[in-house]
Amino acid sequence: EIVRKVIIAGNWKMYKTQGEAAEFLMEFIPEIDNVPEDREVVLCVPFTDLTIVNKSLHGNRIRLGAQNVHWEDCGAYTGEISASMLTEMGVRYVIVGHSERRQYFGETDETVNLRLKAAQNGGLIPILCVGETKQQRDAGAVEQTIFAQLDRGLEGVDLRRLVIAYEPIWAIGTGETCEAIEANRVIGIIRDRLSDPQVTIQYGGSVKPSNIDEIMAQPQIDGVLVGGASLAAGDFAGIVNYK
Ligand code: G3P
Repeated sequence: EIVRKVIIAGNWKMYKTQGEAAEFLMEFIPEIDNVPEDREVVLCVPFTDLTIVNKSLHGNRIRLGAQNVHWEDCGAYTGEISASMLTEMGVRYVIVGHSERRQYFGETDETVNLRLKAAQNGGLIPILCVGETKQQRDAGAVEQTIFAQLDRGLEGVDLRRLVIAYEPIWAIGTGETCEAIEANRVIGIIRDRLSDPQVTIQYGGSVKPSNIDEIMAQPQIDGVLVGGASLAAGDFAGIVNYK
């Protein structure tokens, strides 16, 4: 059960060969000994890096995550990976519905919903990503966009085994962080929309060592999902060791 747990997750996206992952771990692991026990550190890595990262979880101080999961357990689905394949590799978390998957790979709220349920049925904790584009924000449609993603995406999903990441698309990889106060406000709105207010809700979008303290000081924000700054061991160590 994931009840308002602090979860600091890295999303490596399509970066790092096995060799590069090994290098990262050598530098990162010595930096996490003083991370408080109640802070979960997660690395969501490419499928091809799961084995090497699983070998260096540092007594489970790091939890292993993947970046997608299919809704069937097996079948003729070329290029896809199932929940049981992931759990067997030591995976605990899986990102579902990242905006890059929605934008480039035809992911919809319906396929997101199927993947969320399959992840939970297979024993994984999905991290559902939601968030608006710049145009939607400028049009005053932040709530409408996110409510549609939540209402359709979460049908039949167990909120006690779920993490949500609010990732405003205009703040992803742009260096343009959503103001901490604004992220806190939207996450509060997301929390109010859920039938269970105890869900862990993260912020994602240009999180870095220099803004993590302010983000984590917000009362509604339970953690972060970090892209670019999770690729450099020193930066990600700076983030997981926030004040
Ligand atoms: O999933 C995390 C991501 O989309 C945020 O990326 O590079 O802005 O931290 P970045």
